[in-house]
Amino acid sequence: MKKKLRKIGKWLNDRGGFSEMLKPLKEHLVPPGTGWNYVWGSATLFCLIVQVLTGIALAFLYQPSVNAAYQSMQYIENQAFMGSFIRGLHNWGASGMVVLLGAHMIRVYLTAAYKYPREMSWISGIFLLGITLTMAMTGQLLRWDSNAIWTGILVAEQTGRIPFVGDAIAHFFIGGATLGGDTLNRYFAMHVFLFPALLFTIVGYHLFLVLRNGISEPPKAGRLINPKKYRSWYQKMLKKKGVPFFPDVIWRDVVFSLGVLIVLILLGWLVGAPELTKPADPTILETEPTPDWYFKWIYAIFATMNRFLEPYFLFFGPLLGIILLFSVPFLSRGGERSPLRRPWAIVGVAITIVTVGSLTYAGLWANWVPDFKAAPLGEYVSVPQEEPMAERGKHLFYEMKCIYCHKIGKKGGSNGPALTKVENRLDEQQLILQISNGSADMPAYGGSLSSSEIKALVAFLLSEKKVNEEKRETRNKE
Ligand code: HEC
Repeated sequence: MKKKLRKIGKWLNDRGGFSEMLKPLKEHLVPPGTGWNYVWGSATLFCLIVQVLTGIALAFLYQPSVNAAYQSMQYIENQAFMGSFIRGLHNWGASGMVVLLGAHMIRVYLTAAYKYPREMSWISGIFLLGITLTMAMTGQLLRWDSNAIWTGILVAEQTGRIPFVGDAIAHFFIGGATLGGDTLNRYFAMHVFLFPALLFTIVGYHLFLVLRNGISEPPKAGRLINPKKYRSWYQKMLKKKGVPFFPDVIWRDVVFSLGVLIVLILLGWLVGAPELTKPADPTILETEPTPDWYFKWIYAIFATMNRFLEPYFLFFGPLLGIILLFSVPFLSRGGERSPLRRPWAIVGVAITIVTVGSLTYAGLWANWVPDFKAAPLGEYVSVPQEEPMAERGKHLFYEMKCIYCHKIGKKGGSNGPALTKVENRLDEQQLILQISNGSADMPAYGGSLSSSEIKALVAFLLSEKKVNEEKRETRNKE
């Protein structure tokens, strides 16, 4: 029996060439001391594999048509065998990929592994970053619930505002002038065919470069990179001190990836994917269009930025970012690699992390978008007694959706300034002007409200003063 098995094994290997295939892996030498800091890239790749497997499973049941997409998502979430778990895993796998990719980039940047001769590794990596984020974005729209398509509409509108090229890009992504069936088809094709194909091609190239140029040796302060001598130095160093990638190095990658898998499984199982909101219907506004968490920081920038600057920021911001990222390996090709000798690299990374982190935090907790769920003000705002005008204004403030964008007390949206203390800033005349004429970010209500209604709103906005005065009076009386 054993003999027979061995014979079969031999045949398979002879005709199939499996040990030959694994040979480079065994013989590939790696500089000593790479350690745990070198696991981020392989873990990102591992997440990509998780995404492919869970993505295929989802595609078995998902129907990319306007009429069926939402139902098929419901089916996956509520009925399909392990559907909710696999959706959760796919969702957290995407998050994991973004996070690990970020960690990998930071490691490569801090240890200056992008320097000679690994510039192309960095450049292909930037493409991988862009494609990964595009995958995350297109995937969110495939949920085809109200949240997803409103996010899609917002993205398209913002893209359309980019000077010069915005309209064309927005048209390409949404497949026409409006969001509809063509959009869904397009996003589906992009998410499951176009970008995965690009991703795999470039990942393949990225890995080929790792084999060709070798893994960068851990940096040492004072050991400079000299492009003229580096390659021969590296080969000599490998011959003298190199360790085989398999099994000396790869075990760390395997252990770390298994850890990542456990975390993803726990998150996918216990937390799951974002709840599906209502079916997609562009006429229903009752949703809070918000992107998934790793895009919130971009969202926060737009929420806080001046409307007139936004289009330029939309155009020049990414352009500058892309140029900067691509130029990294050309700004300093040789010299020091140790982060200890490159303090500005550490400062740059720290600033980036703090900025993106705090913007994400702001984006996660602030209510930037119109708050479509705001309740009538009745319960929590008091109006001076016996003031029907202010009482009417209070109702109008809700009915006319002012509360979607303005806070009164603690309730309402944050699109516009809070109006709790507006009486200290504006007088009656200015309030009337603002409400009837609107401004850049606020609709003009002059056409839709009668002058008595506007007066009522103003009376309401000014009533806080009176409430306070009343309180003071009663306190004085006591
Ligand atoms: C789509 C969101 C939106 C809606 C709806 C909206 N506003 Fe505004 N409002 C804004 C923004 C944004 C500003 C800040 C001015 C600007 O940048 O255009 C503003 C400014 C104001 C101001 C001036 C505040 C200040 O401190 O200068 C007042 C008063 C005001 N709005 C009242 C109202 C009233 C009353 C309604 C309902 C009839 C309303 N708004 C509906 C977005 C909105």
